[in-house]
Formats: sequence, C-alpha cells, structure tokens
Amino acid sequence: MKIQKRIKSAVIGLGVGAHQAKALYNHPDCQLKWICDINKSRLSKIGSELVETKRTDNEEDVLNDPEIDLICVASYDEAHHRQVIKSLKQGKHVYVEKPMCISKSEAKDIRLTLKSNPKLRLSSNMVLRTCPLFKKVRNVIQSNKIGEIYHIEADYLWGRKNKLISGWRSEAEFYSIIHGAAVHMIDLALWIYGKKPCAVQAIGNKISTLGTLQRHNDFAVLLLQFDNLMSVKISAHGGCVHPHFHTLKVFGQKSSFFHESTGTVWIDSSSPDQMPRPEHSEYPAKAHRNQALVSFVNSLLSPKTDPLVPQEDVFSVMSICLAAEEAVQSRKILPIEYL
Ligand SMILES: NC(=O)c1ccc[n+]([C@@H]2O[C@H](COP(=O)([O-])OP(=O)(O)OC[C@H]3O[C@@H](n4cnc5c(N)ncnc54)[C@H](O)[C@@H]3O)[C@@H](O)[C@H]2O)c1
Repeated sequence: MKIQKRIKSAVIGLGVGAHQAKALYNHPDCQLKWICDINKSRLSKIGSELVETKRTDNEEDVLNDPEIDLICVASYDEAHHRQVIKSLKQGKHVYVEKPMCISKSEAKDIRLTLKSNPKLRLSSNMVLRTCPLFKKVRNVIQSNKIGEIYHIEADYLWGRKNKLISGWRSEAEFYSIIHGAAVHMIDLALWIYGKKPCAVQAIGNKISTLGTLQRHNDFAVLLLQFDNLMSVKISAHGGCVHPHFHTLKVFGQKSSFFHESTGTVWIDSSSPDQMPRPEHSEYPAKAHRNQALVSFVNSLLSPKTDPLVPQEDVFSVMSICLAAEEAVQSRKILPIEYL
C-alpha cells in the first residue's frame, strides 16, 4: 500500500528552483505534486527526473490546487509578490526565493496577508546560513570567544557577469543588485551578529557593465549602523573580475576573523610573529544548500520548531534591502523602517 505523504508541495520556476524541486521530491514526508515553468524545455528536462510529478507552464494550475500545502516561488524577482500573495490567499505556506519582493508596498502587503492568515508560514532561501564555515563563525561570535564585535565586512563577489547582462535581470524594468546580491551578505552579517541595524548609508554605480543591456546598478556598497555604533560594511559586486566568493571579515576585541579567497584565518594577536590560526570548516558548501528548505518543511511538520530562516528574519533583511536601495537613490543616511 502506498503511504500518504504529509506535505503536498509545488515549485514555480526551475532555475535555482530545480534544486528545491529535487529536495522536496527526496524529502521523506513530502510529495512534490507540481513543477511549473514557462520554459517548456526546462520543464520537461527537470520533469524527466521527477517521476509522478505533474508539470505545467501555467502558475494558476499550482496556485489554485486545493491539495497543495507549500509553494516554492523561484520565478523572476518581479513575479514574487504576486505569487506569494496568491499562495497565501489560497491557504498555502510559502518558501520564496530572495528577494521576497521588490518594493515597500509589496512587503507591507505580504505582511498584512500573513497577519490575516496566522496559521501560514513564510521562509526564504538565505543559503549562506547552510554553510559550515559561517555556522562555525556564528558559534564563535555568539559564545563571545572573540569578545565584543565592533565591525564586520562582507562582500558578495558574484563573478557571473553574464547573468546580469543577459536574460531576465537585464530585461527587467527594475533590478536591484542590493536585492539580488547584497541581500545574502546582509542576512549573513545579521545572523552571525544577532542584532539588527538602525540606519543605512549606501552608494552604487554601474561602471562594470557599462555598454551592456543592464540598465541598473551592478555595484553597491552599504554601511549599516547599529544602536551601539557597531558597523557592518557590505558590498555587492555584480560585474567583478573574480570567481564567485563571499568574503567575510569580523573584528572583535580579542580576535579577528578573515575569510578571503587567499585563505581563512583567525588572528589572535597584533604581533607579526604570531601566525594566524587557519580555519578549515567547509566552504563553499553546495551539498548543504537545501538545508534552509528542508528545515522549513520540518518546521511545518513540527510547528514548535523554528526553521533555519524564520519569517521575521526574512522581513528584517528585506526591510534593510529596501532602505538601502532608497539610500542609494537619496544619497542620505536613512533610518531603517522594519516592515
Ligand atoms: N538563494 C539563492 O542563492 C539564489 C540563487 C540564484 C537565484 N536566486 C533567486 O531565484 C529567482 C530565480 O533566479 P534564477 O537564477 O533561478 O533564474 P533562472 O532564469 O535560472 O530561472 C528562473 C525560472 O523561472 C521561470 N519563470 C519565470 N517566471 C515564471 C512564471 N510566472 N511561472 C513559471 N515559471 C516562471 C523561468 O522560465 C526560469 O526557468 C530569482 O528571484 C533569484 O534572485 C536565488
């Protein structure tokens, strides 16, 4: 006899969403009922690996299916708000790719819709939380082993310029390198430090993709300020000449941590004679990247457990991204309104 699986799920958009589809398909307490993509050849390629999963190129088939409990939204940024709202209104939990949405009014709308459906949950794919190296850094910081933190720097070196200058990111009416790339480093910094900033200053430019189809900034640098005057500097490089990499530097009272493409070390002394301590925790960690989704599914199955990326964190990071984008436009230091 076939065992009834407990969560019925669907994925819309099969780029990064193809990984989510496979994770749901392989989850022991989940059924992947639908995959959806407007690109029919992608749909049939991914679908051929997922026996008994239905395929559609029409999102309405998925959104209107009363049997579905969970929808993963992994379509283009500008479609997220529409698909998230429709999913919630149809009583479905949502795992949405970053950015959750692209404007303040959309974020407020999602917040209100969640408030009127209090049993529903939302999470997002803040994938750096799944990396063993960053988990280790978080544990060290939170156990106070390197003392009070006074500054963090985190750089998203995308190294995949082609993704910015062709395809949907170059065609979209609005595209934000902050929502697309800085978002991961903002989430990482907040997650390891454990506190939220109160203000943001930011500038950006589009020098590295000049003369291409990309009309929006490909670079941004943000300075986040905290109540205790601790600071976080984030940069997002859409067009850099560098392999894909996430640089992280943490400065504590007792030690510093540097994760750069040249090496990963803890530095416990200002003396040039004392060698830094190499850190060997795994990075990058593609094999772990579905943990955020798997933990979300598990939290739906056991509602007392928190997912790796709780809903409140998704809103906090989105609020910071939106304030930072506004700060680029206004060239002012802006207070962050948490939505
Ligand atoms: N968390 C991460 O690390 C991460 C990594 C990459 C992308 N992303 C996010 O994932 C989203 C998709 O990016 P991508 O790189 O996978 O792009 P992609 O172009 O590779 O894939 C997107 C897919 O969505 C499909 N699609 C678009 N609109 C659709 C609709 N209305 N209905 C059904 N299918 C639709 C497209 O045909 C395409 O196959 C973006 O929001 C991006 O920011 C997140």
